[in-house]
Amino acid sequence: MRKRFVIAIDGPGASGKSTTAKLLAKKMKYIYIDTGAMYRACGLCSLEKNIDLKDMKALEKMLDNMEIQIKYSQTGNQIFLNGKDISSRIREADITKLSSEIAVIDIVRKKMVEQQRQIGKDGGVIMDGRDIGTVVFPNADFKFFMIADVETRALRRWKEAKDKGEKISLNDIEKELVWRDRNDSTRDIAPLKQAEDAIAVDTSDMTIQEQVDFILNVIKKGKRRKIYSFICTTLYFFMRVVWRLEIIHKERLESIENCIIAANHISAFDPLFIGAIIPGEIYYLAKAELFKNKLLDKLLKHVNVIPVKRGRIDKGAIRVVNEVLQKGHSIMIFPEGTRKATSVKAGIGKFALQLQKDIRPIFIKNSVDFWKCFFGKKRLQIIIAEKIKAESFSHLEDTKENYRNLASNVMKKILELENEC
Ligand code: DC
Repeated sequence: MRKRFVIAIDGPGASGKSTTAKLLAKKMKYIYIDTGAMYRACGLCSLEKNIDLKDMKALEKMLDNMEIQIKYSQTGNQIFLNGKDISSRIREADITKLSSEIAVIDIVRKKMVEQQRQIGKDGGVIMDGRDIGTVVFPNADFKFFMIADVETRALRRWKEAKDKGEKISLNDIEKELVWRDRNDSTRDIAPLKQAEDAIAVDTSDMTIQEQVDFILNVIKKGKRRKIYSFICTTLYFFMRVVWRLEIIHKERLESIENCIIAANHISAFDPLFIGAIIPGEIYYLAKAELFKNKLLDKLLKHVNVIPVKRGRIDKGAIRVVNEVLQKGHSIMIFPEGTRKATSVKAGIGKFALQLQKDIRPIFIKNSVDFWKCFFGKKRLQIIIAEKIKAESFSHLEDTKENYRNLASNVMKKILELENEC
């Protein structure tokens, strides 16, 4: 699993890409690459060398002899063309138009894309442009497509120009943006378009901080998801090879969604084993003491474990469980609470009744017999039951007795599954 990501931010001019990308890069200590500046540098080079953009031979020669250097800093990119700092010059109107014109040419794009891939190959990079998520890094870890209405974008550019003391009308800026949008999105090669798996961010009514926070939040969640799936995949491999896992009624796993998963509890590995075989993410409960260990605290949070204080009613944990179920996730609960329990707790019945959620009983066998499984005498078995539909208990009143009865019935169903081994 790669630790440092490639983050692609595409979108039309003045949609907020570069401002957001720069701040994100600073926050994440990543490199920021403004690929638009590279096409701008090509445009400037062709102008300085007086090259006709239809003359492919001359263009090829120009590209072979041209050196674009990007110096990364926390505040942005400094662009050098053959050793000369062109950072300000390339922002002028003539180069803006020329950059869009030169960007439609195949050989120009090939050269730029090659350079961009080289820069981003080890990750730790935030790249903005038009084709980063579609062409340059189609497998980028995160892809965003920033948009904003043209009036907002024109106003942003106009303010920037005014601050720099440039005299240009709002109308002219808007016209230029409309022209460039069309030119960039209708070209044959690598047109400006949203990658299928990119997240669209409409920045029209967002502040810069909101844009940054939105993206950071997506990355944070995605990072957690990647860690979760990495742990599950690795664990599943060991369960198959070392524990000789057998899943009975595996086809029923597919329909596990937004429900309470209820299992017997014989080993500390049970939650991990059950979580690893269920497609998608689920949530778990664990005693709060485990979170005192710093390493465990980090790990458990990454795998969706909710801490529960024992010995009293933990209202905080109950609220989180409610939220998780209401948001459409599934949660695993052991009706007996702990491994050494002698009775069934009412908790599972309370959640299921109050929130009217289906329950999925699961029986786990031999998870305490590592060596016997390892030496082929036993195997880890997990049996999946049909779900207990919420409709089947929806008529019950919200009483403690009903919670307890429902919990006991669920436990009975779990134990009955052993007959199917
Ligand atoms: O992002 P920008 O406005 O600086 O980009 C200038 C031009 O460069 C833009 O109109 C289209 C082109 N471009 C491109 O074709 N592909 C990219 N990845 C980035 C920019």
